[in-house]
Amino acid sequence: MLRSSLTSAAAMSRNLVLTGTFIHTPSKTKLEVLTNTAVFVENGVITSIMPATSSLPSTHHHIASPEGSFFFPGFIDTHIHASQYPNSGIFGTSTLLDWLKKYTFPLERSLADPVKARQVYSRVLQRTLANGTTTASYFATIDVDTTNLLADLALETGQRAFIGRNCMDQESPADYVDPTPEASVERTQRVVEHCRKIDPEGKLIRPIVTPRFAPTCSAKSLRGLGDLAEKEDLHIQTHLSENKPECEWVAQLFEGSKSYAHVYDDAKLLTPKTVLAHVVHVSDEEVKLLAERKSGVAHCPVSNNALGSGCCGVKRLMRAGVKVGLGTDVSGGYSCSVLENVRQATLVSSLVALQDGSKGEEEKLTFIEALWLATRGGAEVMGLEDKVGGFEVGKEFDAQLVGLGTVEGKVKDSAVDVFGWEDWEEKTAKWVYRGDERNTLKVWVAGREVYSK
Ligand code: GUN
Ligand code: ZN
Repeated sequence: MLRSSLTSAAAMSRNLVLTGTFIHTPSKTKLEVLTNTAVFVENGVITSIMPATSSLPSTHHHIASPEGSFFFPGFIDTHIHASQYPNSGIFGTSTLLDWLKKYTFPLERSLADPVKARQVYSRVLQRTLANGTTTASYFATIDVDTTNLLADLALETGQRAFIGRNCMDQESPADYVDPTPEASVERTQRVVEHCRKIDPEGKLIRPIVTPRFAPTCSAKSLRGLGDLAEKEDLHIQTHLSENKPECEWVAQLFEGSKSYAHVYDDAKLLTPKTVLAHVVHVSDEEVKLLAERKSGVAHCPVSNNALGSGCCGVKRLMRAGVKVGLGTDVSGGYSCSVLENVRQATLVSSLVALQDGSKGEEEKLTFIEALWLATRGGAEVMGLEDKVGGFEVGKEFDAQLVGLGTVEGKVKDSAVDVFGWEDWEEKTAKWVYRGDERNTLKVWVAGREVYSK
């Protein structure tokens, strides 16, 4: 149930003290478990973390994690197409370029209808929150008004969201294309203004410049969008080297650029605020360029598997110093669960370890590293590392309460069976490999309860 529909004073209180077990990943290799702990939250920000005592101040609304449950940082989905949510699970045996034509462009085009857009965007916001996603970086469609509607709805539900209008001015369907490069920029500006109007300080809602991907963007529009991002200090998101035919197409379209990554760099689109989705087929030189530019990668293992795009070697990117987070890439990815992507990130990494030229064991991601990517890694990619991603004084309280199905905290209908003799690390592993949205009991963004089962 979405909290915007509830009005109880307690649910709306911004001064909280939460007690029980808190689990997070302070570093890539460490799962920290804080048991019998009290976390104080004032105006959405964590003000202290201490051992829980029996006397708690009456000034703070008290929330205790039921036995067998724990608080975990909210997930950060660094790449999701809100508009494609109705197609989740519908992809046949297509690969990227056919899939875009057959399934994706027609659906996105139809979302210029505000009634349909409201229905789809309300649902995707609800579903991502129900899966513990507290921050999402959304692609909408090319339509300005309904992209602005997505921003309004995200603000209303309380999710932290980056809102992007898809820019495409070439190699696109005749009825789903920006007429000129200038229109791509001007229409993006209108979304930027709207986001800044509804959330002037960008506390929850921020605009993000969104050239769809190089093939559907003229060099002139890419450069115009790069200039806009620079002038307005904006985040940027796009796709890079997802599938081999796409890479070949880019080489033909942009003969003057040194590589696919250089197409974006030539347009000033590789910045510390850039999020590049997929990055499966990249040369060492491109990886070096991304690291130098401090641009981030949205690793989308479910989508890469579903569309047969390839196995991304994320440890290679991480070793090179590239920032990495996880993305669901709905509806290339069939699931809007970041947890599903945590799980598949580890499985794909085992396959990468078998590939020629890999460093074997070094390519494998543990479930702890994958949880780090889903929280702190994502925060770094989105430039939110000072605000969210873990439990520390000074950070905002973006969190989920996870129930695993024991004793009082029993989650009816959970696929995770906990027998009681597992330690917290083992319980967390069971959540990663067996859990789903049934285990997400409550969700907070900046201390506000935004979802409750
Ligand atoms: N490349 C360009 N557009 C898209 C899209 O909508 N989804 C995915 N997965 N890749 C893209
Ligand atoms: Zn995508």
